[in-house]
Amino acid sequence: MTPSPLARGEAPGKVILFGEHAVVYGRPAIAAPVTQVRARAHIFPASTCTVEAIDLHQRVEVARAPADDPFALMVRLVCDALQRPLPPWRIVITSDIPIAAGLGSGAAISAAIGRAMLAGFNAHLPNETLSALVYEVEKLHHGTPSGIDNTVVVYERPVWFVRGREPEPFAVARPIPLLIADTGVPSPTRIAVGDVRRAWEQEPARFEALFDEIGDIARQARSAIEEGDIPALGPLMHANQTLLARMGVSSPELDRLVRAALDAGAAGAKLSGAGRGGNMIALVSDDIAEEVANALRAAGAVRVISTTIPPATPI
Ligand code: MEV
Repeated sequence: MTPSPLARGEAPGKVILFGEHAVVYGRPAIAAPVTQVRARAHIFPASTCTVEAIDLHQRVEVARAPADDPFALMVRLVCDALQRPLPPWRIVITSDIPIAAGLGSGAAISAAIGRAMLAGFNAHLPNETLSALVYEVEKLHHGTPSGIDNTVVVYERPVWFVRGREPEPFAVARPIPLLIADTGVPSPTRIAVGDVRRAWEQEPARFEALFDEIGDIARQARSAIEEGDIPALGPLMHANQTLLARMGVSSPELDRLVRAALDAGAAGAKLSGAGRGGNMIALVSDDIAEEVANALRAAGAVRVISTTIPPATPI
């Protein structure tokens, strides 16, 4: 019989609604948690400290793991923050967040490890500190993360995010109904982010102008969300997708899903996350959600998640 865990922790996936990539260059972006998919960590007593990722067939002994092992790094960071020695724990991770798909699986796994360890130590760290620790691990995944992924999965609420600033919770006046469709094409964030960086280095003026336009779209989207004008988000998603395609981070598979969603009646559709593959999002009212989901599957989506970003008041 499996023993019951000493402690557990979890964290949701995330979607970026507006502003990916430009957010790395200081423009604002909007992201929200996706609670239908989650990473979980369970802690069991053991003789040494190990982390096991069942779905990934990975097991690391923290004391012997290389410095760039993301699981071991998260465990060490939490121990350092709490000034505790490595505990004799087997930390088991499970996750139904697709990997390399733009849904923040890396950040969610780190956050779940952190939350489980805090419960195991019976200790507390403010969200700000936990988010900063997850950010350190995110740097292993790609060198220049904006910090949006760790922020949204740790705070578990929609955020208006500007790099280097405190995350700003903002009001969501009305529910935002979305479909999230997976191209099935894995796309590690660091590759798309690295390609955008090289392109920006070669054509700084052109890319700065694209980032500015995306920043303006994020600002308009924030006002629409705060006012509950959800239909206004459709054209803004379309404009954001066009700019992302001009930056070279869309793909034939993403373009096909975006087109299928719009043809089936979605009010707007765009890639979400790093692009090149991974997931796209479509804004759908309840009456057409099923039709759009079917159209997405017919156009090659390997998985479609229906989610609603619930109304939220700023804290
Ligand atoms: C990845 O979820 C979002 C990007 O903007 C990268 C980042 O913000 O670190 C592509």
